[in-house]
Amino acid sequence: MRVNVAIIGGGPSGLLLAQLLHQSGIDAIVLERKTREYVLSRIRAGVLERGIVDLMVKAGAADRLQAESFTHDGTVIAYKGESFAIPFSKYTAHPVTVYGQTELTRDLYDAREAVNGKTLFNVEDVVINNAKSSSPSIDCIVDGKQVHIDCDYIAGCDGFHGVSRQTIPPEARREYEKNYPFGWLGILSETKPVHEELIYANSDRGFALCSMRNERLSRYYLQCDTNDHIDNWSDAQFWDELKKRIPEKFADTLESGPSIEKSIAPLRSFVCEPMQWGRLFLCGDAAHIVPPTGAKGLNTAASDVHYLFTALKQWYAEKDHQLLDTYSQTALKRVWKVERFSWWMTTMLHRFPDQSDFDLQIQSAELDFLRESESAQASLATNYVGLPY
Ligand code: APR
Ligand code: PHB
Repeated sequence: MRVNVAIIGGGPSGLLLAQLLHQSGIDAIVLERKTREYVLSRIRAGVLERGIVDLMVKAGAADRLQAESFTHDGTVIAYKGESFAIPFSKYTAHPVTVYGQTELTRDLYDAREAVNGKTLFNVEDVVINNAKSSSPSIDCIVDGKQVHIDCDYIAGCDGFHGVSRQTIPPEARREYEKNYPFGWLGILSETKPVHEELIYANSDRGFALCSMRNERLSRYYLQCDTNDHIDNWSDAQFWDELKKRIPEKFADTLESGPSIEKSIAPLRSFVCEPMQWGRLFLCGDAAHIVPPTGAKGLNTAASDVHYLFTALKQWYAEKDHQLLDTYSQTALKRVWKVERFSWWMTTMLHRFPDQSDFDLQIQSAELDFLRESESAQASLATNYVGLPY
Protein backbone atom coordinates (compact mmCIF):
# COMPACT_ATOMS: atom_id res chain seq x y z
CA MET A 1 0.00 0.00 0.00
CA ARG A 2 1.23 3.57 -0.69
CA VAL A 3 -0.07 6.89 0.73
CA ASN A 4 1.25 10.42 0.86
CA VAL A 5 1.08 10.61 4.67
CA ALA A 6 0.87 7.73 7.17
CA ILE A 7 -0.60 8.83 10.51
CA ILE A 8 0.07 6.73 13.59
CA GLY A 9 -2.68 7.29 16.16
CA GLY A 10 -6.43 7.78 15.84
CA GLY A 11 -6.88 10.27 18.66
CA PRO A 12 -7.77 13.93 18.10
CA SER A 13 -4.32 14.83 16.67
CA GLY A 14 -4.25 12.07 14.08
CA LEU A 15 -7.87 12.44 13.07
CA LEU A 16 -7.75 16.23 12.74
CA LEU A 17 -4.60 16.04 10.60
CA ALA A 18 -6.12 13.30 8.42
CA GLN A 19 -9.26 15.34 7.81
CA LEU A 20 -7.36 18.53 6.98
CA LEU A 21 -5.11 16.62 4.55
CA HIS A 22 -8.16 15.05 2.91
CA GLN A 23 -9.72 18.49 2.41
CA SER A 24 -6.54 19.46 0.51
CA GLY A 25 -6.48 16.30 -1.61
CA ILE A 26 -3.54 14.77 0.25
CA ASP A 27 -3.95 11.02 0.73
CA ALA A 28 -3.50 9.72 4.29
CA ILE A 29 -4.09 6.59 6.30
CA VAL A 30 -4.74 6.50 10.07
CA LEU A 31 -3.33 3.54 12.04
CA GLU A 32 -5.03 3.14 15.44
CA ARG A 33 -3.98 0.57 18.02
CA LYS A 34 -7.40 0.31 19.66
CA THR A 35 -10.97 0.29 18.39
CA ARG A 36 -13.03 3.39 17.65
CA GLU A 37 -15.25 2.54 20.66
CA TYR A 38 -12.25 2.32 22.96
CA VAL A 39 -10.87 5.67 21.78
CA LEU A 40 -14.28 7.28 22.31
CA SER A 41 -14.56 5.83 25.81
CA ARG A 42 -11.83 8.15 27.08
CA ILE A 43 -13.09 11.10 29.15
CA ARG A 44 -10.98 14.20 28.49
CA ALA A 45 -11.15 17.95 28.99
CA GLY A 46 -13.71 20.20 27.35
CA VAL A 47 -12.35 23.70 26.80
CA LEU A 48 -11.50 24.64 23.20
CA GLU A 49 -9.42 27.58 21.99
CA ARG A 50 -10.56 29.51 18.92
CA GLY A 51 -7.76 27.86 16.94
CA ILE A 52 -9.06 24.30 17.21
CA VAL A 53 -12.62 25.43 16.52
CA ASP A 54 -11.39 27.08 13.30
CA LEU A 55 -9.48 23.91 12.37
CA MET A 56 -12.61 21.80 12.92
CA VAL A 57 -14.50 24.12 10.56
CA LYS A 58 -11.68 23.84 7.98
CA ALA A 59 -11.78 20.04 8.42
CA GLY A 60 -15.51 20.01 7.68
CA ALA A 61 -16.25 18.46 11.06
CA ALA A 62 -17.71 21.36 13.06
CA ASP A 63 -21.47 21.10 12.50
CA ARG A 64 -22.35 19.47 15.84
CA LEU A 65 -19.73 21.48 17.68
CA GLN A 66 -21.26 24.71 16.41
CA ALA A 67 -24.77 23.49 17.23
CA GLU A 68 -24.16 22.03 20.69
CA SER A 69 -21.19 23.87 22.19
CA PHE A 70 -21.42 27.03 24.23
CA THR A 71 -19.00 29.84 24.80
CA HIS A 72 -17.50 31.03 28.07
CA ASP A 73 -16.47 34.64 28.36
CA GLY A 74 -14.50 34.13 31.51
CA THR A 75 -13.59 31.94 34.44
CA VAL A 76 -13.76 32.18 38.22
CA ILE A 77 -10.79 31.91 40.56
CA ALA A 78 -11.56 31.03 44.20
CA TYR A 79 -9.27 31.20 47.23
CA LYS A 80 -9.58 31.89 50.96
CA GLY A 81 -13.31 31.19 50.72
CA GLU A 82 -13.87 34.03 48.26
CA SER A 83 -13.89 34.25 44.47
CA PHE A 84 -13.40 36.68 41.60
CA ALA A 85 -14.19 36.49 37.91
CA ILE A 86 -11.77 37.10 35.05
CA PRO A 87 -13.72 38.39 32.03
CA PHE A 88 -11.87 37.23 28.93
CA SER A 89 -13.58 39.76 26.61
CA LYS A 90 -12.13 42.64 28.61
CA TYR A 91 -8.66 41.54 27.58
CA THR A 92 -8.97 39.32 24.49
CA ALA A 93 -10.88 39.15 21.22
CA HIS A 94 -12.21 35.61 21.67
CA PRO A 95 -14.05 33.59 24.31
CA VAL A 96 -13.40 29.87 24.79
CA THR A 97 -15.72 27.13 23.57
CA VAL A 98 -16.98 24.41 25.92
CA TYR A 99 -17.37 21.07 24.12
CA GLY A 100 -16.17 17.66 25.25
CA GLN A 101 -13.02 16.29 23.61
CA THR A 102 -14.74 12.93 23.35
CA GLU A 103 -17.46 14.54 21.23
CA LEU A 104 -14.87 16.34 19.11
CA THR A 105 -13.10 13.03 18.48
CA ARG A 106 -16.44 11.40 17.62
CA ASP A 107 -17.14 14.18 15.11
CA LEU A 108 -13.75 13.62 13.50
CA TYR A 109 -14.39 9.88 13.19
CA ASP A 110 -17.79 10.56 11.64
CA ALA A 111 -16.24 13.06 9.20
CA ARG A 112 -13.54 10.54 8.24
CA GLU A 113 -16.09 7.82 7.60
CA ALA A 114 -18.19 10.25 5.55
CA VAL A 115 -15.29 10.71 3.12
CA ASN A 116 -14.33 7.01 3.25
CA GLY A 117 -10.99 7.91 4.78
CA LYS A 118 -8.65 4.96 5.30
CA THR A 119 -8.48 4.05 9.01
CA LEU A 120 -7.11 0.75 10.33
CA PHE A 121 -8.05 -0.30 13.87
CA ASN A 122 -6.51 -2.91 16.17
CA VAL A 123 -3.15 -2.16 14.58
CA GLU A 124 -0.28 -3.93 16.35
CA ASP A 125 3.51 -3.91 16.28
CA VAL A 126 3.91 -0.66 14.35
CA VAL A 127 7.50 -0.25 13.15
CA ILE A 128 8.69 2.94 11.47
CA ASN A 129 11.33 2.28 8.79
CA ASN A 130 13.87 4.68 7.24
CA ALA A 131 12.42 7.86 8.75
CA LYS A 132 15.63 9.71 7.80
CA SER A 133 15.41 8.61 4.17
CA SER A 134 13.33 9.98 1.29
CA SER A 135 11.29 6.77 1.28
CA PRO A 136 10.04 6.01 4.80
CA SER A 137 7.62 3.18 5.42
CA ILE A 138 5.65 1.45 8.16
CA ASP A 139 5.24 -2.23 8.95
CA CYS A 140 2.46 -3.37 11.27
CA ILE A 141 0.07 -6.24 11.92
CA VAL A 142 -3.68 -5.86 11.38
CA ASP A 143 -6.02 -8.73 12.26
CA GLY A 144 -3.05 -11.09 12.29
CA LYS A 145 -1.81 -10.05 8.85
CA GLN A 146 1.44 -8.22 8.04
CA VAL A 147 0.82 -4.82 6.44
CA HIS A 148 3.47 -2.68 4.73
CA ILE A 149 2.81 0.99 3.97
CA ASP A 150 5.09 3.11 1.78
CA CYS A 151 4.66 6.85 2.26
CA ASP A 152 6.24 10.26 1.77
CA TYR A 153 5.85 11.38 5.41
CA ILE A 154 4.86 9.91 8.78
CA ALA A 155 2.91 11.81 11.44
CA GLY A 156 3.49 10.43 14.95
CA CYS A 157 0.15 11.20 16.62
CA ASP A 158 0.31 8.18 18.92
CA GLY A 159 0.30 9.87 22.29
CA PHE A 160 2.69 9.73 25.22
CA HIS A 161 3.01 5.94 25.18
CA GLY A 162 3.27 5.58 21.43
CA VAL A 163 6.08 4.28 19.22
CA SER A 164 6.88 7.48 17.29
CA ARG A 165 8.91 9.40 19.88
CA GLN A 166 10.89 6.23 20.63
CA THR A 167 11.90 6.08 16.96
CA ILE A 168 14.07 9.15 17.45
CA PRO A 169 17.38 7.73 18.70
CA PRO A 170 17.92 8.48 22.43
CA GLU A 171 21.17 10.27 21.64
CA ALA A 172 19.30 12.60 19.25
CA ARG A 173 16.41 13.30 21.61
CA ARG A 174 16.29 15.62 24.63
CA GLU A 175 13.39 15.15 27.05
CA TYR A 176 12.29 17.61 29.73
CA GLU A 177 10.01 16.34 32.49
CA LYS A 178 8.41 17.55 35.70
CA ASN A 179 6.17 15.21 37.72
CA TYR A 180 3.81 16.90 40.19
CA PRO A 181 3.32 15.42 43.69
CA PHE A 182 -0.42 15.02 43.28
CA GLY A 183 -3.10 13.80 40.87
CA TRP A 184 -6.62 14.77 39.86
CA LEU A 185 -9.62 12.72 40.95
CA GLY A 186 -12.36 13.47 38.41
CA ILE A 187 -16.04 12.61 38.24
CA LEU A 188 -18.74 13.09 35.65
CA SER A 189 -22.31 13.48 36.95
CA GLU A 190 -25.66 14.15 35.30
CA THR A 191 -26.23 17.21 37.45
CA LYS A 192 -26.60 20.92 36.84
CA PRO A 193 -23.19 22.64 36.81
CA VAL A 194 -22.65 24.63 39.99
CA HIS A 195 -21.87 27.79 38.02
CA GLU A 196 -22.25 28.96 34.43
CA GLU A 197 -18.48 29.29 34.08
CA LEU A 198 -15.57 27.19 35.36
CA ILE A 199 -14.34 27.62 38.93
CA TYR A 200 -10.65 27.02 39.70
CA ALA A 201 -10.29 26.82 43.49
CA ASN A 202 -7.18 26.95 45.68
CA SER A 203 -8.21 25.85 49.19
CA ASP A 204 -6.19 24.85 52.26
CA ARG A 205 -7.47 21.30 51.62
CA GLY A 206 -6.19 21.32 48.05
CA PHE A 207 -7.23 22.25 44.51
CA ALA A 208 -10.73 21.78 43.10
CA LEU A 209 -12.16 22.48 39.64
CA CYS A 210 -15.84 22.84 38.74
CA SER A 211 -16.43 22.31 35.02
CA MET A 212 -19.14 21.01 32.75
CA ARG A 213 -20.10 19.41 29.44
CA ASN A 214 -23.66 20.80 29.14
CA GLU A 215 -26.53 22.07 31.27
CA ARG A 216 -27.11 18.58 32.71
CA LEU A 217 -23.61 17.16 32.71
CA SER A 218 -21.01 18.37 35.19
CA ARG A 219 -17.32 17.58 35.46
CA TYR A 220 -15.55 18.06 38.80
CA TYR A 221 -11.96 17.45 39.93
CA LEU A 222 -10.22 17.26 43.31
CA GLN A 223 -6.48 17.33 43.87
CA CYS A 224 -5.54 13.97 45.40
CA ASP A 225 -2.43 12.04 46.42
CA THR A 226 -0.43 10.44 43.64
CA ASN A 227 -1.06 7.00 45.18
CA ASP A 228 -4.78 7.58 45.80
CA HIS A 229 -7.38 5.22 44.29
CA ILE A 230 -10.98 5.72 43.20
CA ASP A 231 -12.02 2.92 45.59
CA ASN A 232 -11.08 5.31 48.40
CA TRP A 233 -13.74 7.74 47.27
CA SER A 234 -17.45 7.10 47.49
CA ASP A 235 -19.63 9.63 45.70
CA ALA A 236 -20.70 11.04 49.06
CA GLN A 237 -17.08 11.49 50.13
CA PHE A 238 -16.30 13.24 46.85
CA TRP A 239 -19.19 15.69 47.14
CA ASP A 240 -18.43 16.40 50.82
CA GLU A 241 -14.79 17.20 50.01
CA LEU A 242 -15.67 19.29 46.99
CA LYS A 243 -18.04 21.43 49.08
CA LYS A 244 -15.22 22.05 51.57
CA ARG A 245 -12.88 23.29 48.83
CA ILE A 246 -15.13 25.83 47.10
CA PRO A 247 -16.65 29.04 48.51
CA GLU A 248 -19.87 28.56 50.52
CA LYS A 249 -21.95 30.51 48.03
CA PHE A 250 -21.23 27.76 45.47
CA ALA A 251 -21.17 24.83 47.89
CA ASP A 252 -24.63 25.77 49.17
CA THR A 253 -26.13 25.49 45.68
CA LEU A 254 -24.13 22.49 44.49
CA GLU A 255 -26.32 19.74 43.00
CA SER A 256 -24.79 16.35 43.73
CA GLY A 257 -25.71 13.02 42.24
CA PRO A 258 -24.33 9.63 41.24
CA SER A 259 -21.06 9.64 39.33
CA ILE A 260 -21.23 8.10 35.85
CA GLU A 261 -17.46 8.18 35.54
CA LYS A 262 -14.72 8.37 38.15
CA SER A 263 -10.97 8.34 37.47
CA ILE A 264 -7.61 9.54 38.74
CA ALA A 265 -4.95 11.02 36.46
CA PRO A 266 -1.35 11.95 37.28
CA LEU A 267 -0.04 15.43 36.49
CA ARG A 268 3.13 15.94 34.55
CA SER A 269 4.88 18.44 32.27
CA PHE A 270 6.89 16.87 29.46
CA VAL A 271 8.52 18.03 26.25
CA CYS A 272 10.56 16.07 23.69
CA GLU A 273 12.98 17.92 21.45
CA PRO A 274 13.14 17.73 18.51
CA MET A 275 9.59 17.07 17.33
CA GLN A 276 10.78 15.70 14.01
CA TRP A 277 13.27 13.13 12.78
CA GLY A 278 13.77 13.11 9.04
CA ARG A 279 10.32 12.53 7.58
CA LEU A 280 8.73 11.63 10.94
CA PHE A 281 6.85 14.47 12.62
CA LEU A 282 5.50 14.28 16.19
CA CYS A 283 2.16 15.92 17.07
CA GLY A 284 0.30 16.28 20.36
CA ASP A 285 0.88 14.03 23.35
CA ALA A 286 3.54 12.08 21.40
CA ALA A 287 5.75 15.15 21.84
CA HIS A 288 4.51 16.96 24.94
CA ILE A 289 2.29 16.70 28.00
CA VAL A 290 0.88 19.47 30.15
CA PRO A 291 -0.87 19.31 33.53
CA PRO A 292 -4.61 19.78 32.76
CA THR A 293 -4.89 22.95 34.88
CA GLY A 294 -4.69 25.21 31.84
CA ALA A 295 -6.86 22.97 29.61
CA LYS A 296 -4.06 22.94 27.02
CA GLY A 297 -3.54 19.27 26.08
CA LEU A 298 -5.92 19.06 23.15
CA ASN A 299 -5.45 22.70 22.19
CA THR A 300 -1.68 22.33 21.86
CA ALA A 301 -2.10 19.13 19.86
CA ALA A 302 -4.23 21.26 17.52
CA SER A 303 -1.54 23.92 17.07
CA ASP A 304 0.98 21.18 16.20
CA VAL A 305 -1.49 19.83 13.63
CA HIS A 306 -1.91 23.31 12.19
CA TYR A 307 1.83 23.75 11.70
CA LEU A 308 2.31 20.26 10.22
CA PHE A 309 -0.73 20.50 7.94
CA THR A 310 0.39 23.92 6.67
CA ALA A 311 3.89 22.57 6.00
CA LEU A 312 2.63 19.46 4.19
CA LYS A 313 0.19 21.53 2.14
CA GLN A 314 3.06 23.83 1.07
CA TRP A 315 5.16 20.83 0.05
CA TYR A 316 2.47 19.09 -1.99
CA ALA A 317 1.31 22.34 -3.62
CA GLU A 318 4.64 24.05 -4.29
CA LYS A 319 7.33 21.42 -3.62
CA ASP A 320 8.65 23.91 -1.04
CA HIS A 321 9.91 22.10 2.08
CA GLN A 322 10.87 25.20 4.12
CA LEU A 323 7.99 24.84 6.61
CA LEU A 324 8.63 21.09 6.90
CA ASP A 325 12.29 21.78 7.67
CA THR A 326 11.36 24.22 10.44
CA TYR A 327 8.31 22.41 11.85
CA SER A 328 9.95 21.34 15.11
CA GLN A 329 11.32 24.76 16.05
CA THR A 330 8.05 26.47 15.04
CA ALA A 331 5.89 24.08 17.06
CA LEU A 332 8.21 24.08 20.08
CA LYS A 333 8.19 27.87 20.29
CA ARG A 334 4.46 27.79 21.11
CA VAL A 335 4.67 24.48 23.06
CA TRP A 336 7.04 25.96 25.63
CA LYS A 337 4.81 29.01 26.17
CA VAL A 338 1.90 26.67 26.84
CA GLU A 339 4.06 24.53 29.14
CA ARG A 340 4.89 27.66 31.11
CA PHE A 341 1.25 28.73 31.43
CA SER A 342 0.12 25.24 32.47
CA TRP A 343 2.93 25.04 35.04
CA TRP A 344 2.07 28.53 36.36
CA MET A 345 -1.66 27.71 36.76
CA THR A 346 -0.79 24.42 38.47
CA THR A 347 1.72 26.02 40.84
CA MET A 348 -0.61 28.87 41.75
CA LEU A 349 -3.68 26.73 42.42
CA HIS A 350 -2.47 23.52 44.07
CA ARG A 351 -1.15 22.82 47.58
CA PHE A 352 2.24 21.11 47.49
CA PRO A 353 3.23 18.67 50.27
CA ASP A 354 6.54 20.44 50.86
CA GLN A 355 5.22 24.01 50.79
CA SER A 356 6.79 26.18 53.50
CA ASP A 357 4.94 29.07 55.18
CA PHE A 358 6.91 31.36 52.91
CA ASP A 359 5.75 29.40 49.85
CA LEU A 360 2.14 29.71 51.01
CA GLN A 361 2.55 33.48 51.43
CA ILE A 362 3.96 33.76 47.91
CA GLN A 363 1.06 31.71 46.50
CA SER A 364 -1.41 33.94 48.33
CA ALA A 365 0.30 37.07 47.00
CA GLU A 366 0.16 35.63 43.47
CA LEU A 367 -3.61 35.21 43.82
CA ASP A 368 -4.00 38.65 45.41
CA PHE A 369 -2.10 40.20 42.49
CA LEU A 370 -4.25 38.29 39.99
CA ARG A 371 -7.41 39.54 41.71
CA GLU A 372 -6.25 43.16 41.80
CA SER A 373 -4.21 43.60 38.62
CA GLU A 374 -5.71 44.06 35.18
CA SER A 375 -2.36 43.25 33.57
CA ALA A 376 -2.18 39.97 35.49
CA GLN A 377 -5.73 39.11 34.44
CA ALA A 378 -4.95 40.08 30.84
CA SER A 379 -1.99 37.70 30.88
CA LEU A 380 -4.09 34.82 32.18
CA ALA A 381 -6.89 35.55 29.70
CA THR A 382 -4.49 35.83 26.74
CA ASN A 383 -2.97 32.45 27.51
CA TYR A 384 -6.20 30.74 28.48
CA VAL A 385 -8.19 31.67 25.35
CA GLY A 386 -5.19 30.62 23.25
CA LEU A 387 -1.97 32.16 22.03
CA PRO A 388 -1.86 32.86 18.28
CA TYR A 389 -0.57 30.10 16.00
N1 APR B 1 0.07 2.32 17.08
C1 APR B 1 -1.14 2.86 16.74
N2 APR B 1 -1.84 3.69 17.55
C2 APR B 1 -1.29 4.00 18.74
C3 APR B 1 -0.03 3.50 19.16
C4 APR B 1 0.66 2.62 18.26
N3 APR B 1 1.86 2.12 18.57
N4 APR B 1 0.24 3.99 20.39
C5 APR B 1 -0.80 4.77 20.73
N5 APR B 1 -1.73 4.77 19.76
C6 APR B 1 -3.00 5.50 19.71
C7 APR B 1 -3.74 5.51 21.04
O1 APR B 1 -4.58 4.36 21.15
C8 APR B 1 -4.56 6.81 20.92
O2 APR B 1 -5.85 6.57 20.38
O3 APR B 1 -2.69 6.87 19.46
C9 APR B 1 -3.75 7.68 19.96
C10 APR B 1 -3.15 8.89 20.67
O4 APR B 1 -4.22 9.73 21.09
P1 APR B 1 -4.06 10.69 22.37
O5 APR B 1 -3.32 9.98 23.44
O6 APR B 1 -5.44 11.23 22.66
O7 APR B 1 -3.12 11.87 21.89
P2 APR B 1 -3.43 13.05 20.86
O8 APR B 1 -4.21 12.58 19.71
O9 APR B 1 -2.13 13.74 20.68
O10 APR B 1 -4.42 14.02 21.67
C11 APR B 1 -3.94 14.84 22.65
O11 APR B 1 -5.95 14.15 23.73
O12 APR B 1 -5.81 12.29 25.08
C12 APR B 1 -5.83 13.64 25.07
O13 APR B 1 -4.60 14.37 26.97
C13 APR B 1 -4.59 14.27 25.59
O14 APR B 1 -5.64 16.36 25.52
C14 APR B 1 -4.65 15.58 24.90
C15 APR B 1 -5.08 15.24 23.53
C1 PHB C 1 -12.74 19.66 31.91
O1 PHB C 1 -13.86 20.18 31.69
O2 PHB C 1 -12.54 18.41 31.92
C2 PHB C 1 -11.57 20.58 32.20
C3 PHB C 1 -11.76 21.94 32.09
C4 PHB C 1 -10.70 22.81 32.35
C5 PHB C 1 -9.48 22.27 32.73
C6 PHB C 1 -9.29 20.89 32.84
C7 PHB C 1 -10.35 20.03 32.58
O3 PHB C 1 -8.44 23.12 33.02
